[in-house]
Amino acid sequence: METVRFGKTGMMVTPLTLGTWGIGGAGWDENTDETRLDAIAAAVECGINFIDTAPAYNAGKAERYIGKALEQMGPGTRQKVQIATKCANSFIDGQYVRSGRPELILQQCEDSLKNLRTDYIDLLIVHWPDPEIPYEKTFGALTRLKEEGCIRHIGVSNFNQEQLQRAMQCADVEALQLQYSMVEQGNADVLQWAHGQGLGVMTYGSLGGGILTGRYRTLEQYAPMDNRNRFYPYFREPLFSRVMELLKVMEPIAKERGVTLAEIAINWSRQKDFIDTSMFGAQSRQKVESNIKCLDWTLSEEEMEMLDRAAKAVLS
Ligand SMILES: NC(=O)c1ccc[n+]([C@@H]2O[C@H](COP(=O)([O-])OP(=O)(O)OC[C@H]3O[C@@H](n4cnc5c(N)ncnc54)[C@H](OP(=O)(O)O)[C@@H]3O)[C@@H](O)[C@H]2O)c1
Repeated sequence: METVRFGKTGMMVTPLTLGTWGIGGAGWDENTDETRLDAIAAAVECGINFIDTAPAYNAGKAERYIGKALEQMGPGTRQKVQIATKCANSFIDGQYVRSGRPELILQQCEDSLKNLRTDYIDLLIVHWPDPEIPYEKTFGALTRLKEEGCIRHIGVSNFNQEQLQRAMQCADVEALQLQYSMVEQGNADVLQWAHGQGLGVMTYGSLGGGILTGRYRTLEQYAPMDNRNRFYPYFREPLFSRVMELLKVMEPIAKERGVTLAEIAINWSRQKDFIDTSMFGAQSRQKVESNIKCLDWTLSEEEMEMLDRAAKAVLS
């Protein structure tokens, strides 16, 4: 698989990154351990060299699956893959708890290294900003981890431009992770700005939490902590019906090209020139292998414009 420069980090990453929130298990569909381990193995076998995770993905469970899957794939596998994990957000008794306390960050990094069965983290991302703790303290802890060799690069996620600029004054922040998809374009400006500054740019939710794959055709009720209820707003009206209209614009393109809706959604995102790598979450080998086929083709300019227009209607 081709690789691209991840900003000025020196990392070369694949244009697709495997996300593991779903693989962690909490707030998404249930799958067996074997299925989840196999999804990670499939990504690596197909050539994906970047995996995103977090301690908050079911209290370290997603990280533990990654550690186990890479180890099972044999010596040298860890070195072929770059891992982004996070800090400053925990999953405690079924609830997400944000905190930028430096002691927590140092402890989480130590736990992540154990979970991932590794002695370094390629990219450690501050998961969410914490307004209660001075950035100097939070990012001081990350700088210390970098100096000690536990992590190679520092990133932030879910920071707006002002927060990002403040963070950049406190540490060598080299990467930004934000939500961006056909149905969530609010972050386009800050992503473009960050790309222009030489940060590595990675985006999440390319599939709108799954709704852009076409697998949801009727509105269902999800449990309060299910991410299709709690995190992604497309599984409620009025957005649900609007996204169904967007799928009608995607479907003829899929039919004509013989591709899936998921491939269209991922390509729409990865073809934007300010994005280095687009993430998708998938818990099975079949979905990983199917999604990766998007790299065999690209949306034409005309198709992009048509999708942009249709997506605007969803967002308005
Ligand atoms: N920094 C942050 O705050 C943040 C927030 C959200 C996400 N992320 C990261 O970004 C990654 C991607 O985002 P996401 O996982 O939330 O959302 P996503 O990639 O937009 O969608 C994931 C959903 O799509 C489904 N899916 C994937 N491929 C499919 C296919 N071919 N056919 C049918 N369904 C398919 C998955 O199903 P299954 O799970 O059933 O396989 C899952 O339900 C996460 O895993 C995580 O690593 C970061």
